[in-house]
Amino acid sequence: MKTIKKLCAAALLVMLPALAFGSGAEVHLDTAPVNLKDKVSLQRGAHLFTERCLACHAATSMRYNRLNDIGMSDDQIKKDLQLPEDVKVGSTMQAAMDSNSAKMAYGVAPPDLSVIARSRSADWLYTYLRSFHVDANRPSGWNNTTFPNVGMPHVLADLQGEQHLKVENHEGHETKKLELATPGSMQPAEYDAAVGDLVNYLVFMSEPAKLVRHELGWIVLGFLSILFVLVYALKKEIWKDIH
Ligand code: HEC
Repeated sequence: MKTIKKLCAAALLVMLPALAFGSGAEVHLDTAPVNLKDKVSLQRGAHLFTERCLACHAATSMRYNRLNDIGMSDDQIKKDLQLPEDVKVGSTMQAAMDSNSAKMAYGVAPPDLSVIARSRSADWLYTYLRSFHVDANRPSGWNNTTFPNVGMPHVLADLQGEQHLKVENHEGHETKKLELATPGSMQPAEYDAAVGDLVNYLVFMSEPAKLVRHELGWIVLGFLSILFVLVYALKKEIWKDIH
């Protein structure tokens, strides 16, 4: 009995540093308000994405006309998203800047964002896009608490405003806080909602078939329920004389 206790204690001791490291290294993530049924939010997100992100990033697995699935007609896609003349609604989303020039300008090539919501998670993106802060030591003048030393500048700064990082020391514990030093054109809650729409769109883009799949799921369930009623009636019919 004693040896078992000792073994358990030893195992716990071995695991403790791992647990401590695991929790310490993690960045706190806020929960993204993802709702793929909210087509108006997805459309607002699509606007923001094409207007603000396609300058540097591409989404080559996404065709513009997939936006039909979130309730945009071909005409709306062309006009509202201001597609250039040579871009067709059936084209994939290409970046305005070519990857090499972007790499020269920012040190890192901006990755394709087609499936970014699957590789990074919605909560990560929602937190990342809200945690840029001014940093005079970085080439772009910006840093980010979710992605330290990121090469991307804060491209939504005119909307959010400028945040400053405040590091406070409480009895040896460092706490980092972001404070809005210069307001942008949006109120903080408005900015959070806009980023929420953008992340909602990024989740949709990572798996556009999800919307269709959900609908298909309900149809299949409906079909199975009807089948169940029929089979049950049949079973009663077959067994009614056998007793
Ligand atoms: C001015 C060019 C530029 C614009 C515009 C831009 N980005 Fe970026 N972005 C970059 C660069 C460069 C990187 C690579 C940063 C690095 O790895 O250090 C990056 C990285 C990212 C990453 C991290 C990717 C990863 O997992 O490593 C995400 C997410 C992202 N951008 C999202 C966006 C979104 C959403 C928008 C639109 C609101 C946007 N970006 C607009 C240049 C840009």
